[in-house]
Amino acid sequence: MSENIRRRYNEYVRTAAPGDFLSQVRRTLDGKPVPAEQVELIVDRILTGLLLVGEDTVLDLCCGNGVLSDRIFERCLGGTGVDISDELIAVAHENFERLPERRYIWSDVVDYVQNAQLDREFTKAFCYGSLPHLTDDAVQTMLAELRRRCPTITRAFIGNLPDKAHMMEFYYEDAYVPGMEDDPETSMGIWRTQDEFSALAESAGWSAELLNISPGYYAAYYRYDAILTPNP
Ligand SMILES: C[S@@+](CC[C@H](N)C(=O)[O-])C[C@H]1O[C@@H](n2cnc3c(N)ncnc32)[C@H](O)[C@@H]1O
Repeated sequence: MSENIRRRYNEYVRTAAPGDFLSQVRRTLDGKPVPAEQVELIVDRILTGLLLVGEDTVLDLCCGNGVLSDRIFERCLGGTGVDISDELIAVAHENFERLPERRYIWSDVVDYVQNAQLDREFTKAFCYGSLPHLTDDAVQTMLAELRRRCPTITRAFIGNLPDKAHMMEFYYEDAYVPGMEDDPETSMGIWRTQDEFSALAESAGWSAELLNISPGYYAAYYRYDAILTPNP
């Protein structure tokens, strides 16, 4: 478990106004929560990317405080969200948990996928805005275990990945520190090219379809999404 990442997100919860769910997960632009239409774009991308249907049960890997998870869980049989920040999970418990359908668990995602007793049959999974906080080894282990232990998952959506090929369009020259693109504990986490991410997914038993994001989304110029389907 990355103690630094847990602490960082706990701190975001403490410094955001109570009920400001977007700032708690740092979904902000110029220090303010992103506009509601941007959140709608994200929710639509996840729903479409997952081809979500009412009979699905969803695993949200790195769910934060549940502000996105709930929008997905309400459209199907429900799901389980897992996150390393105990304070974000406390917010999820207080505001979004509806047992037994919508459940939130405090855990490192790799540990959860590897070791937890999985008492629901997940059919879809997603990880939004969070994968860059995992090292290559952690991503590889998590995806391989997801494939092995959740064979009923037919589709996974990995969203909002920062594209190393567009990194210098994001950083001002003096804000960039060499090597920061490989550090999972920075606010942006690890930047990966689309090819690097595809290779990681392939090595864990998944095929990746990479998707550019429509320009209406505020971070489209340096981020991409991916849809994973299990390799036979
Ligand atoms: C930018 S937030 C996104 C949260 C949520 N997916 C959303 O989009 O609203 C990144 C999240 O990743 C979580 N996280 C980072 N590393 C993790 C790990 N190893 N296991 C579980 N959660 C992790 C953080 O605690 C944080 O909630």
